Amino acid sequence: MSFTIVEQAPARLNRSEQAVPGSNLRFLEKAAQGSADMVFLDLEDAVAPDQKEQARKNIIQALHDLDWTGKTVSVRINGLDTHYCYRDVVDIMEQAGDKVDLLMIPKAGTAADIYAIDMLCTQIEAAKGYKTRVGFEMIIETALGMQNVHEIAAASKRNESLHFGVADYAASTKARTTNIGGPNPDYVVLTDALENGERERHWGDMWHYAIARMVVAARANGLRPIDGPFGDISDAEGYKAQAMRAAILGCEGKWAIHPSQVDLANEVFSPSEKAIAQANAILEAMVEAQKKGLGAVTLNGRLIDIASIKQAEVLVKTAAQIANR
Ligand code: GLV
Ligand code: MG
Repeated sequence: MSFTIVEQAPARLNRSEQAVPGSNLRFLEKAAQGSADMVFLDLEDAVAPDQKEQARKNIIQALHDLDWTGKTVSVRINGLDTHYCYRDVVDIMEQAGDKVDLLMIPKAGTAADIYAIDMLCTQIEAAKGYKTRVGFEMIIETALGMQNVHEIAAASKRNESLHFGVADYAASTKARTTNIGGPNPDYVVLTDALENGERERHWGDMWHYAIARMVVAARANGLRPIDGPFGDISDAEGYKAQAMRAAILGCEGKWAIHPSQVDLANEVFSPSEKAIAQANAILEAMVEAQKKGLGAVTLNGRLIDIASIKQAEVLVKTAAQIANR
């Protein structure tokens, strides 16, 4: 192990993170009753410029009046390149800063972006005498943000998670994309001729590098890596496949841009019964080995390494969090 100990962000369930436009009070009400682990109340791209002010008011009212028990609530502010940004932070934090868990910072480009929002929040929290401290989640969705992802991840003690914003990322990098967050049928390798002379087109995942890079930056700084949107809300199988490949790379959850995607995310990012049973068996084997004074832990004749024990501990904790929801 390194002498540097990575401090972990607060352990929150983040399997599903539902996007809810702040411009629509009815959507806010429905989201409070839904089954998402997290919701982000949006002031940014789901809200037209002439609705920004009303959306701020709606969100402040929703933070005060709705029952968000069992959910983590975030507000997505506008980007630092817009004049909406400072007013979002000032209004939300002054009027409901002790009711909101997280601010989501879109299009984070440099560590200084995070520093600027941190400074504002720190002043407002002190002035208002809040006992709570708002956390940050950053969307990595520009080439600049991806270039600086490690510095962004380390930029503030408030940081909790990094999100892959695939739609804006595609726009920023000029990637050729068809369905937001989905595969592109032209991103293929063509096999050499098979025995029957045919050649097969094997689809690849054009987002692999971006997600894997973000996961490393997040984990190296104790943050949760979260996969962003999947645009085709009628394609549940496609959503689940993209969620699963993100889970396999280390992501803890995925956005739901429609309520129908929430349960899909919760399903994919929950440990299976089999995995929970296996993790419990590993931990029991460890306790047995300790009782007997054995240095090595074995289960069903196989040696269990320290990494597997740690993974088992994390998995059992997550399963308990899910059970307690
Ligand atoms: C999310 O904000 C995205 O751009 O994908
Ligand atoms: Mg975006």
